[in-house]
Amino acid sequence: MTPNPLSNYNVEEIRKDFPIFNQKIYGKPLTFLDSGASAQKPLRVLDAIQKSYSEEYANIHRGVYYLSQVGTQKYEDARVKIQNFINAKSHKEIIFVRGATEAINLVAQTWGRKFLESGDEVVLSRLEHHSNIVPWQILRDEKDIVITVAPIDDKANFLFDEFEKLLSEKVKLVAITHISNALGTITPIKDIIKAAHKVGAKVLVDGCQAVPHMRVDVQELDADFYVFSAHKLYGPTGVGVLYAKEDLLDAMPPYQGGGDMIRSVTFEKTVYNDLPHKFEAGTPHIAGGIGFGAALDYVEDLGFHNIGQYEDRLLDYALGKIQEVKGLRLIGQADNMAGIISFTMDLAHPHDIGTILDQDGIAIRTGHHCAQPVMDFFDIPSTARASLGLYNTEQDIDRLVDGLHKVNRIFS
Ligand code: ALA
Repeated sequence: MTPNPLSNYNVEEIRKDFPIFNQKIYGKPLTFLDSGASAQKPLRVLDAIQKSYSEEYANIHRGVYYLSQVGTQKYEDARVKIQNFINAKSHKEIIFVRGATEAINLVAQTWGRKFLESGDEVVLSRLEHHSNIVPWQILRDEKDIVITVAPIDDKANFLFDEFEKLLSEKVKLVAITHISNALGTITPIKDIIKAAHKVGAKVLVDGCQAVPHMRVDVQELDADFYVFSAHKLYGPTGVGVLYAKEDLLDAMPPYQGGGDMIRSVTFEKTVYNDLPHKFEAGTPHIAGGIGFGAALDYVEDLGFHNIGQYEDRLLDYALGKIQEVKGLRLIGQADNMAGIISFTMDLAHPHDIGTILDQDGIAIRTGHHCAQPVMDFFDIPSTARASLGLYNTEQDIDRLVDGLHKVNRIFS
């Protein structure tokens, strides 16, 4: 008999790890369906942050005394946890940043500024978040590079053949999401990377929505840059990761100047620090990094296989059930998708849907999801979006669907 990986996945027990679910919202239980924007935090993360500040706190990388040494060790342990989490070759390839947005800006302003020339092409996709569009436009204004866009079909599938047609020796970078935050499409990222490498382009992957859902192995993918934030991965806000291959980081100039990123400074000359510190100017988010490490311990203990299978099953349930709602149109029904249900309704604007659901303690995101170009593609200004986390249940989906029936009743 095939073992059932979900037999150990006790979602009711898992929910007890998240204190946010202990409260009522307007007297109703909380149904949190906005983990795509930011996920809730387990006690383990909150405890690690509390402990960092209350028992182990001092500035790191600078002190010879006990607390500084303990803090440094914990922070650097977190870096190694991230390295293992994505199977990077070296801890030197893990750069702590404020979040994925900063990571992409860092790559644009260092690697991009140094290596891209007028006329070079950067390929994005129609699915991108603004944070993987605007940094390249800022660079385009400065360096006169050309941005091209890989298309999708009307189910929001990434069109690989069309993407391949954009590739040529002029393409120096492909910057593409692993999973669309707005519509949930999983892009064929491994094939994208392989094809881009064939023409000598580097590849940056926005992994924000992927890392909470699936095991990511940057060496297996052969990604040149892979970015994600801790806060969508059950960790704290204000901290994230830029993964980059070591030879690329070596060749890139620093992003910001300041303390910790230098080996020596005189008014005549500064020698930069070794990796990863070369890219980490100033006092970092110490407790955030440590909390990030705790979040990884948490998801690793649950097991990605279990989380992924559970969420996929829940998504199937949700996609089936939500279509019972009259006048509901799913936006994005890609053949391969994860964790996100985006929709519009004939009778109600997304903001009205969100407001009515909120009255029943149901939290979803409404708007353009920082992905206006994909909204334009579907000729809509916005959607309502329910996004799943590892703590959601079928009951959450049932409550969402009941809420949507109520929206129809109110507007009919
Ligand atoms: N990028 C986040 C989202 O998808 C904030 O909602």
